[in-house]
Amino acid sequence: MPVILAIESSCDETSVAVSNNGKITANVIANQTIHENYGGVIPELASRVHQQNIVPAVSQALKDSGIEKTDLDAVAFTRGPGLLGSLLVGVSFAKSFALALDLPLIAVNHMQAHILAHFIDEPKPSFPFLCLTVSGGHTQIVKVNDFFDMEIVGETLDDAAGEAFDKTAKILQLPYPGGPLVDKWAKSGNPDAFAFPEPQIPGLDFSFSGFKTSVLYFVRDNMQRDPQFIANNLTDICASVQKRIVSILLNKVKKASVQYGIKQIAIAGGVSANSGLRTGLEDMAKKHGWQTFIPAFQYCTDNAGMIAIAAHHLYLKGEFVGQDTAPQARMEF
Ligand code: KG4
Ligand code: ZN
Repeated sequence: MPVILAIESSCDETSVAVSNNGKITANVIANQTIHENYGGVIPELASRVHQQNIVPAVSQALKDSGIEKTDLDAVAFTRGPGLLGSLLVGVSFAKSFALALDLPLIAVNHMQAHILAHFIDEPKPSFPFLCLTVSGGHTQIVKVNDFFDMEIVGETLDDAAGEAFDKTAKILQLPYPGGPLVDKWAKSGNPDAFAFPEPQIPGLDFSFSGFKTSVLYFVRDNMQRDPQFIANNLTDICASVQKRIVSILLNKVKKASVQYGIKQIAIAGGVSANSGLRTGLEDMAKKHGWQTFIPAFQYCTDNAGMIAIAAHHLYLKGEFVGQDTAPQARMEF
């Protein structure tokens, strides 16, 4: 029954979605291209652009879903984790909008929402399942026992997988955010052209900082020898880097699957859009008898559809928050 308007503004995407009884009927995503000029997200600029985008994005989402403001039952927002200035725009807008319409408010954890994106479309996983959540800021293996009962069983000790992609792209002089470009160039390269090391981290944790340094030294040394090295080997470098990042991720997922005896495996977060990760996961699934869950592209990178579905389940649990709720740059499960 509930019709919920959801707002996501944790980083550099302003997104507004509508959930109508758990069905996502609008998912407007306004990307901020301004950061491309700076090689990374500039927090101050991100919050200003959210301010410009939010009202048109809300109007568009209502229009796309064919509803009026008065049809809404609740307003949801990303509370964290994320950039404080960016979160503040979405949280403040949601609070004012809810106040004006006399609607209850729902606060959503962005990382839980990435995982709950699996409950938007079919097939939906059943509990418990394992989710590899890989984004620009996080790399986690999460054991999902129920909608809001999630345990992080492994995580990165330093950089996130998305950062490993973005930093590789920067070393290769590709614009920000480089992850999708590494993916694009990798498609026509040889993944066995260059061998990058696999970090030996115990348990289910990850580390990408040594890996990133190895890519940096590899490119620097080769450029000293041959200034055309990047230009002549771009596709092979991208394919080789991508192959290694994917194997680091999937080897730990395999370990977690054995450790917990769980064969339902999901991926979530921006890096789950990566074609190498998607095919690598399918290959492993065939080998190990896994059932896999991969979100549609629009629900991989930051989007309010995932906030709306999480909010739908919080609504059913009767979990609302007050007007005094503040954003949290760091937010645990
Ligand atoms: O989940 P997300 O949209 O934002 C965060 O919460 O961080 O993830 C963004 C990250 C960036 O590092 C971006 O480069 C990476 O996801 N990404 C990709 C691909 N699409 C997005 N990395 C590799 N291949 C892709 N196709
Ligand atoms: Zn995210």
